[in-house]
Amino acid sequence: MALLIRGGEIVTADSRSHADIYIENETITRIGPALDAPAGTEVIDARGKFVFPGFIDPHVHIHLPFMATFAKDTHTTASVAALLGGTTCFIEMVCPSRNEDALTGYQIWKQKAEGHSACDYAFHMAVTRYDANTEAQLREIVKDGTASFKVFLAYKNFFGVTDDELFQTLTLAKSLGVITTAHCENAELVTRLQQRLLAEGKTGPEWHEPSRPEPVEAEGTGRFAAFLEQTGATGYVVHLSCQPALAAAVAAKLRGVRLYVESVLPHFLFDKSFAERKGVEGMKYVMSPPLRDKRNLDVLWSGLEAGLIDTVGTDHCPFDTEQKLLGKDNFTLIPNGIPGIEDRVNLMYTYGVARGRLDIHRFVDALSTQPAKLFGLFPRKGNISVGADADLVIFDPNYRGKITAKSQKTNNDYNGFEGYAIEGRPTAVTVRGRVQVRDGAFVGATSLGRMLRREPQYKD
Ligand code: URP
Ligand code: ZN
Ligand code: ZN
Repeated sequence: MALLIRGGEIVTADSRSHADIYIENETITRIGPALDAPAGTEVIDARGKFVFPGFIDPHVHIHLPFMATFAKDTHTTASVAALLGGTTCFIEMVCPSRNEDALTGYQIWKQKAEGHSACDYAFHMAVTRYDANTEAQLREIVKDGTASFKVFLAYKNFFGVTDDELFQTLTLAKSLGVITTAHCENAELVTRLQQRLLAEGKTGPEWHEPSRPEPVEAEGTGRFAAFLEQTGATGYVVHLSCQPALAAAVAAKLRGVRLYVESVLPHFLFDKSFAERKGVEGMKYVMSPPLRDKRNLDVLWSGLEAGLIDTVGTDHCPFDTEQKLLGKDNFTLIPNGIPGIEDRVNLMYTYGVARGRLDIHRFVDALSTQPAKLFGLFPRKGNISVGADADLVIFDPNYRGKITAKSQKTNNDYNGFEGYAIEGRPTAVTVRGRVQVRDGAFVGATSLGRMLRREPQYKD
């Protein structure tokens, strides 16, 4: 059935205009003023609202065996939460442990998602060891349409790779034209600092940040950049959290290293004092890289506005209160992570665009267009143009509300952003022309989402 979005203000990464959007068979077929529509066309009145391209979260964890437990969401809960928050597509990290084959892991993640997602999705393939079988398996995975890798320089003996494995992964990525995303922290330093703090009887969540201080992340970022420089591969630093790491990334960009930068929602809004709260309240804010000294928040907002930070993701990773308590006597055992997929768009709009800190086009660019471009989804996703998938967010900037775990669809018993005011939210959201959210409620099909197959795009 055809769909007409009538009278909204279309805002993309580089344009702004009042026009109607006409959609047939999943695709935008006409954009213009006062479009006519055949009888029977469904009409959504978007007057007084923004129409944004569907937002893309480039970094989420849904199925995640990690730190003696599993992240809480299913693909259904996470994708419904995503859509309610205006995210029409996410890229999930496939993270097998070092004991698992890459291909086995990939198949497990694909099976978990297939038929269970309400929005479209893709994968980044984590390379968590590099042995005699790895190259052939990664080639098969890339042929299957997963054209981005992930490496962890942290999490020694679990997801973490050695420098030698990093070199081999990047060499293969370069030859395949695949982008490699990286968690950049020095694993050896983290291990040593954790041991030292525990030996001193420092066991609470407030010691998580001192166990992985800013220089640890700056070193990881600089090292990743040096390996990219020597292999000629293209890279993407995930969840960059602090000024020294951004300085290392910018220095590499200036040397001509093909390196892109992502920061994630919590680091724009929280500082380390949140993890210094007593007991489980502090544990809820344990993530890696950790929440930082508050001087870094302005650096991230300025870096984002200036385009030094290319994208904003979430690193969505829900662990509930009981799971967080696994680390009640030892901060190194607190499952790392915090959810955000439901709240990224509304919070970045409210505390960025509405507060005058972030240009509205840069907002669309960083949360939709750049993720699409960097990860091979553009121009099908990340834009509003004739021929693109009709993934659209009709966003009401006059909505006023508060975030609360009581009404969230993310599968967790708390929300780190509890009580935060939001000034604007999606009223309607479409995925390939199907209305999945109407009047702020999920009304769609939980099996609509498809895996997006992507081509390598970093060949010379
Ligand atoms: O603390 C975090 N970030 N948890 C999820 C795993 C990761 O490092 O991305
Ligand atoms: Zn990470
Ligand atoms: Zn992550």
